[in-house]
Amino acid sequence: MVSDVLEVEGGSPLTGRIAVRGAKNFVSKAMVASLLGQGPSQLNSVPQIRDVEIVADLLRAHGVSVSVDDATGTVAMNPLGVELAKAADIATHAGSSRIPILFCGPLLHRVGEAFIPDLGGCDIGGRPIDFHLQILRQFGAEVSKEPGGIRLTAPKRLQGMQMELAFPSVGATEQFLLTAVLAEGITVLRGAAVEPEIMDLVAVLQQMGAIISIETDRTIKVEGVDSLEGYRHNSLPDRIEVASWAAAALATGGDITVDGARQDDMVTYLNVFRKAGGRFDITETGIRFYHPGGPLSSIAVETGVHPGFMTDWQQPLVVALTQATGLSVVHETVYEQRFGFTEALRRMGARIQLYRECLGGQVCRFGMRNYQHSAIICGPTPLRAAEIEVPDLRGGFSHLIAALAAPGRSTVTGIGLIDRGYEHFNAKLEALGARTWHR
Ligand code: UD1
Repeated sequence: MVSDVLEVEGGSPLTGRIAVRGAKNFVSKAMVASLLGQGPSQLNSVPQIRDVEIVADLLRAHGVSVSVDDATGTVAMNPLGVELAKAADIATHAGSSRIPILFCGPLLHRVGEAFIPDLGGCDIGGRPIDFHLQILRQFGAEVSKEPGGIRLTAPKRLQGMQMELAFPSVGATEQFLLTAVLAEGITVLRGAAVEPEIMDLVAVLQQMGAIISIETDRTIKVEGVDSLEGYRHNSLPDRIEVASWAAAALATGGDITVDGARQDDMVTYLNVFRKAGGRFDITETGIRFYHPGGPLSSIAVETGVHPGFMTDWQQPLVVALTQATGLSVVHETVYEQRFGFTEALRRMGARIQLYRECLGGQVCRFGMRNYQHSAIICGPTPLRAAEIEVPDLRGGFSHLIAALAAPGRSTVTGIGLIDRGYEHFNAKLEALGARTWHR
């Protein structure tokens, strides 16, 4: 087994070519969608990451046969024997993942019952599931609290309904889609999220036989059908991983070509990357991101739902902004506590100050509450090597970038968390010339 501690000899630019495959935030949901089909489904371009293993195990526990070919990135799923898994098995396989919540709609349709163990996920805020439960109740599900989790039952076929989300939540919109497609009648969701990963899920469901229309004002309408088929689909690329490597190129003064990256998914990111002084070329196979030399520029950026600047892009970018000249302002409007990772950056020499106020943009949901959700980064500051403990998936990758930018030997502990979302990141670091060793 590979050790959980990585020694990093930083201070050299990352240069070279790597490839990304399917998006973590889509692949897991598309795998869940296979539960809805009467026939087998096949998903291509699936990355070899821990989250895929978790969903495959959960599907198996629910009677779906799943075969994963890591070399080709193909996952074949056959849901003919769908049944409700034991509560203890769901909890064991899910670990800290939030994915079981998305099994509810399909399971309520297929077996009339579902169970959600007490959930985990990255520690970046409260991460409640109230929208999910509200949606499922509106469809007619009955929800009851049990020791260790929540049980849901569908006394009769779930019924179409109309509702509006208080915030365009990605997971809640996926919950809505995965449930509405087989509900009786028409279902309308206003205030829906429209991230590219959601559009790819709509494409999968449409291929299965669902009827889904999307209005320009965040309204999604689904006309329920009686049954769905399987699907064959190639996942969209992982735009969070692409942005992470782009930030690594900027922070280390490097030059990284990311094969598989698509400009369409990255428009908002590329604008910000360019304003900060990064350069990029769109190539036949992907996108080349590079530091052109000279100083980087400080910027003001606000995270938001699509088509805004994605919250998961924020953490790696902040590391690059420690190398920009002047004051950068970052306002986080999606999660209330997504700046915890900056504490380690401060220990490494970064000058970052957090604020409760909404700085540099719109007043957001967190403005009147006691959350430090805005940051001012004063640069450029040379980064120093340090001992770092990975806090969460994106924060952890950001710490790794900081360690790679900082001359000297850093020790990064808890590296296993990064495997959840970054495929073969050790091999990719090696391909980019990084000097790292497992301890
Ligand atoms: C997904 C992504 C995550 C990304 C996020 C926003 C996956 C596996 N994860 O997470 O990488 O950062 O979208 O793009 O796809 N909320 C509630 N009640 C709910 C659900 C959400 O209040 O029931 C709030 C959350 O606390 C948060 C906001 O809505 O403040 C956005 O969360 P959401 O979009 O649901 O994120 P996830 O789907 O969990």
